[in-house]
Amino acid sequence: MVNLRIPGPTPIPKDVLQTSAAPMMNHRGPEFAQIIRRVTDGLNWVFGTNSDVLSLTTSGTGGLETAVVNTLSPGDKVLACSIGSFGDRLRSIAKTYGAEIESYAVEWGEAIDPAEVGRRLDADKDIKAVMVTHNETSTGVTNPLEAIAKEVRSRDRLIIVDAVSSMSSVPCPAERWGLDVVVSGSQKGWMVPPGLAFVWLSERAWAANAEAKMPRFYFDAAKTRDSLEKLQNPWTPAMTVYYSMDKAFELMRAEGLEGIFTRHEAAGNYTRERVKSLGLKLVPVDERYASNTVTAIWWPEGVDGKAISKKAREEHGVVLGGGQGKLEGKIFRIGHLGYFQHSDLVEALDVVEKLLAEARYPPRPLSQRGQPPRCHRRTAVPRIESSPGGERRGGCGSRAYGCRRPAPFERVQNAIVPLHERTQASGLGRSPFVLPWDGLQRLTIPARTLGGNFRRIARLWYVRLVYLRRTNAGGFPE
Ligand SMILES: Cc1ncc(COP(=O)(O)O)c(C=O)c1O
Repeated sequence: MVNLRIPGPTPIPKDVLQTSAAPMMNHRGPEFAQIIRRVTDGLNWVFGTNSDVLSLTTSGTGGLETAVVNTLSPGDKVLACSIGSFGDRLRSIAKTYGAEIESYAVEWGEAIDPAEVGRRLDADKDIKAVMVTHNETSTGVTNPLEAIAKEVRSRDRLIIVDAVSSMSSVPCPAERWGLDVVVSGSQKGWMVPPGLAFVWLSERAWAANAEAKMPRFYFDAAKTRDSLEKLQNPWTPAMTVYYSMDKAFELMRAEGLEGIFTRHEAAGNYTRERVKSLGLKLVPVDERYASNTVTAIWWPEGVDGKAISKKAREEHGVVLGGGQGKLEGKIFRIGHLGYFQHSDLVEALDVVEKLLAEARYPPRPLSQRGQPPRCHRRTAVPRIESSPGGERRGGCGSRAYGCRRPAPFERVQNAIVPLHERTQASGLGRSPFVLPWDGLQRLTIPARTLGGNFRRIARLWYVRLVYLRRTNAGGFPE
């Protein structure tokens, strides 16, 4: 199994993934209308809004384009704040559609200074809107958005926010923070495949929309809003992503927003501490602004980062994110957003440590490195359940939260369940090799309590249970 550690697309829980295989239905019929309602309610809950968040069939960039063309007219002046590749992209979109750009860009790795935004707005009363990236995925920096929004709001300008890689993972309450247009994308922290972008407009933004003259057709927010009132989309939507969202919201509601934010914060803390304990340098200059959804790390001087990433992928199944734009080949990124376990991060960092050692990168002497934070309660990432009582992924089963790769039990389970499904689907009935579910549950109890070396023990139990099942001596229920 690949350990996908790029900051989106992100891994998807099995039961969410399975929803993509559900049959098509009438996208303008009553069943799909119910799904649209539930998904929109879920989005409103996460965005922290009382009016509906729009869903568009496009990626995050399409969502950004929607934000721009629905609130601005050619010639409107915007303050484009950029701290990396995605800030630059938002600026390019506005420029493409004829906005006049006032650029506020900082060195990549730094965050926007809210006071500077205020100063620039005071100095130029013609600036109509401020555009800012909440979480800059290319540098692993999260801007102090609440403070920036305060500066913008107090001067009565619009604030357009790219929250593609933050919304659903870290706090970003659109109404409470006084944001005007907020955009996210399904393939990030939402635990679903790419295909939908989410865009919310405040009342002020809808007022701006009525005046906005930038050309738009497919990305017309008013058309989307009008269709949403009938619980439809103006165009044929990415229905399977809606199915997945519907399921993912069940998991998200079970975990709760606080739980989700805590898990991401723990992941950010763990990753940063571990990276520093290896003597590596974070890209964020000021750790207060380091992202809890993606950690960006400089490759050490003289190390061929691309070769290490290749080895990590080909030999260890760990897929690291690379650098973008001017950071290509200089940094790597570890995504920790959406559906992940602590053990995924431990494995990724173990592999980085091993490959760096092989590349003869001299780590700091042990005396200077401090304790790696492995299995430390403060930095351990709470476990996410795939579904209450359902399939789990990852975790070692030791008392500390998942400190190793998926337990043998889980590998066995992951191998058996699809086999069982296949034999059932083929009409052959239950395979004699397939264990009943509670047989697997029985397997896990001794394996977990016995601790170390339980891969061998689990295998022995597995063989024994298969034998019992075949001879029907175990009395397992059908
Ligand atoms: C902050 C941010 N903005 C915008 C985008 C663009 O989204 P997409 O690639 O889905 O178009 C991304 C994608 O990585 C992102 O991280």
